[in-house]
Amino acid sequence: MGLVKKVLNVNGIERTLIVDQDAPLSDVLRKQLHLTGTKVGCGNGQCGACNVILNGKLVRSCVLKMKRIDSWSKVTTIEGIGTPLNLHPIQKAFIFHHAIQCGFCTPGFIVSAKALLDENLNPTREDVRDWFQKYRNACRCTGYSMIVDAVMDAAKVLRGEMTDQALEYKPPADGRVYGTRIPRPTFVAKVCGLWDFGEDMGTQLPEDTLQCALVQPKVSHAIIKGIDTSEAEKMPGVFKVVTHRDVKGRNRITGLITFPTNKGDGWDRPILNDDKIYQYGDVVAIVCADTRDNAKAAAAKVKVDLEVLPAYMNAPAAMADDAIEIHPGTPNVYFETYLNKGEDVKPVIEKAAHVVEGEYYLQRQPHMPIEPDVGFAYIDDQKRVVVHSKSIAVHLHLYMIAPGLGLEPDQLVIVQNPTGATFGYKFSPTMEALVGAAAIATGRPCFLGYDWYQQQTYTGKRSPFWLRGRLACDEEGKMLALEADWSCDHGPYSEFGDLVTLRGTQFIGAGYDLKNIRGVGRTVCTNHGWGSAFRAYGSPQSFMLSESLVDELAKKAGFDPFEFRFKNIYRPGATTPTGQVPEVFCFEEMFNLMRPKYYEALAKAKLASTDTVKRGVGVSLGIYGCGLDGPDSSGAWVELLPGGDVMVGNAWQDHGQGADAGTVAFAHETLRALNLRPSQIRLCLNDTSLCPNSGPSGGSRQNVVTGNAIKAACTGLLNAMKKEDGTYRSYDEMVKENLPTKYEGNWTTPCTHQDENGQGSPFCIYMYALFMSEVAVDIATGKTTVVKMTYVGDNGTITNRGTVDGQVYGGLVQGVGLALTEDFEDLKKHTTLIGSGFPFIKDVPDNMELLYVETPRKDGAFGQAGVGEGPLTSPHVSILNAIENACGVRIRSIPAYPDKVLKGLKSEKKAYDVADALADGYMSQGGIETLELKKK
Ligand code: FES
Ligand code: FES
Repeated sequence: MGLVKKVLNVNGIERTLIVDQDAPLSDVLRKQLHLTGTKVGCGNGQCGACNVILNGKLVRSCVLKMKRIDSWSKVTTIEGIGTPLNLHPIQKAFIFHHAIQCGFCTPGFIVSAKALLDENLNPTREDVRDWFQKYRNACRCTGYSMIVDAVMDAAKVLRGEMTDQALEYKPPADGRVYGTRIPRPTFVAKVCGLWDFGEDMGTQLPEDTLQCALVQPKVSHAIIKGIDTSEAEKMPGVFKVVTHRDVKGRNRITGLITFPTNKGDGWDRPILNDDKIYQYGDVVAIVCADTRDNAKAAAAKVKVDLEVLPAYMNAPAAMADDAIEIHPGTPNVYFETYLNKGEDVKPVIEKAAHVVEGEYYLQRQPHMPIEPDVGFAYIDDQKRVVVHSKSIAVHLHLYMIAPGLGLEPDQLVIVQNPTGATFGYKFSPTMEALVGAAAIATGRPCFLGYDWYQQQTYTGKRSPFWLRGRLACDEEGKMLALEADWSCDHGPYSEFGDLVTLRGTQFIGAGYDLKNIRGVGRTVCTNHGWGSAFRAYGSPQSFMLSESLVDELAKKAGFDPFEFRFKNIYRPGATTPTGQVPEVFCFEEMFNLMRPKYYEALAKAKLASTDTVKRGVGVSLGIYGCGLDGPDSSGAWVELLPGGDVMVGNAWQDHGQGADAGTVAFAHETLRALNLRPSQIRLCLNDTSLCPNSGPSGGSRQNVVTGNAIKAACTGLLNAMKKEDGTYRSYDEMVKENLPTKYEGNWTTPCTHQDENGQGSPFCIYMYALFMSEVAVDIATGKTTVVKMTYVGDNGTITNRGTVDGQVYGGLVQGVGLALTEDFEDLKKHTTLIGSGFPFIKDVPDNMELLYVETPRKDGAFGQAGVGEGPLTSPHVSILNAIENACGVRIRSIPAYPDKVLKGLKSEKKAYDVADALADGYMSQGGIETLELKKK
């Protein structure tokens, strides 16, 4: 390490710094100057979260070493652009346009936009997109479109064509919050770089905090024969090397299995691996040291003696006759689920006028948040172990990890930190038990920050489905019967594997009046990345089968795919695949809204097609249930504070989707009679020691279930405050009359679990979506570009329009990635944002049109459904259907890489099948690391 004195002008002030010449600028800003508004996501120059302006030029500070920065250089960080009381027009525009969700990428985008507008005050939308592409500003949440809107408006203000007051939110005359576009309470902190994420909080922990590094053998399946920590323990700065021997409890995370037919017991995931390595990334030891560098250096010295086993990297491999049991004693196929609706489908299909049959594969889609996983733990003054993490299921995680750590539930507290998005991967605990074990073993606060490689290789992923099915219709195009079979590759850990497999019974064929369905699904244990929740959980896989088959059948039977769908959609008299009567029949209105746009798009595609670039249009529909299966409960409380403000408490964990806005909207709407300003509603969120159990933030349930719980709590308070004359008691009057000032609210969905035939009413409210994609396929390269997407959604009444728009744009863009580029299969290639096919701004359309039908839901507090999952149910299939419409090629194994499309174009069958993808090596044939290790 070469230290040197440098004087830098940082945000207009000269600062004298003693720096390591090899340190990246981001480290100096964050750790030495405590300017934590500069975020570090990928840490390798691919995401732009760390952008700062250096001597007038935009730079990525995570890859810029101090030795390349001259003294007297000028550095502008987000903190130098504007402050909460003096926001820059770019910051105001981001707030106004809701161009923010989790906010982790936001400082990097705002700094980048500042550099652009310093250089070009009159950019076109395309200039803005080119700029963000060039400087690799990556956002996983927003779908980019609202960010471009914000930059365009900020430019107008800076050119003097618009006042910055025009960027200030104007509430409606009646002061209402519910149903408006009011900016979220956290936006100002996010645009100023003052919203402290986990790594930022890490810089504020007590001085005796230990830094953790993980020991992760590079192998996918092996028996552990020994762990030798002796050399590591002697390394500089090491306080302790924690192994399974230090874990006081059962050393397992329980998946809380609830299905009696599951052949596993749910206790299959080690906290610290003791007997076997089940997947790449599994952890055998945690080194706790004074610095992160010392911890990492020591981790490299831990020796693990392994007996390598064959790795089963996908469902067919693990189901093969000669495959050994990955968890000895539990079969690799450990759960099966069935759907039997109506009469036996085989005779119906055999007699039908038209039948199609196909086999499909949906890949292991990675979540790819820009913020890598992060957390810490300490023992508090009540001797409780307190874990802070990105958990979106704080109460659930408490019960999943407490026994493994040897703790009673009241000895453990889980708190959610401000979170740079999860999209569901944090439905599973990731590092909570690791930092908990480290804090217990050392008695000191312990901090663990993953790098992006660890984020990608050692957090859960969307479970790949291998699907087969047959669909039949009569001469008139009336669908008659569906037969389906699906295998879910859930990786080595069973938590929620049964639940995601069950989604096949709920969503394969959903949306249509299908009287007869037969289905069987199974969950398969493999050695690839473990399956965790991912937005729309199980439905993109389900619709990959049914929405592909519907298109193929329409084509075969000679119907237009849009009208074929319209003929068969839910109308009164129809039931869902699980035999439930849909709570609303909104598809007809949605299709009628889309129809003129569809025919216009077809006409445009015809005109725009050339010999080299073929244009096409595809549609698909999607449905998702709001809630956990069966009766699903949530709790909230509200407290009247001295002075008249209220505090709302719940555990509506925020991935970045807008729990803050939702909580305020439901409380404000229920308490309208009190005439509160939104800022008078204060929030106490996501701490198991302070907040009631509101359940996990998954399955688009919170807006429905916790929305109702907040309403119930606020109704209790309002009733207590109401006087006989119709006016309301003040806080002082309540106290004087000995009336409680705090009220709890609970709400449970009126639902039933599915029976052994898959029949039941698992959700009381569903989201309905209709997608249309317009694509261009380059015939020479096979590359598909999505030119435009149109979405018609019914999410019930809308809680916050800005939030809902943001969720939809973000979901659509993740659908583009799912269809065309994203995967986590190759353990060498799919470990960076770029390597895994992350969609950057120019990879997705700027042209996205959103239309809403707002059918009020009887069971919604104010008529609402949910939002987050709907836009990612089946947008990918609309893209695949558009590819076929453009060039005649049916892609049955995604992502639809250019090579696959090209091969399909050259094939006689005009298709790219699952068998082709297997033959071409797109699915791992064995653990790469296993094979390499064997070679050595
Ligand atoms: S580019 Fe620096 S953190 Fe990603
Ligand atoms: S808001 Fe951009 S990554 Fe979350």
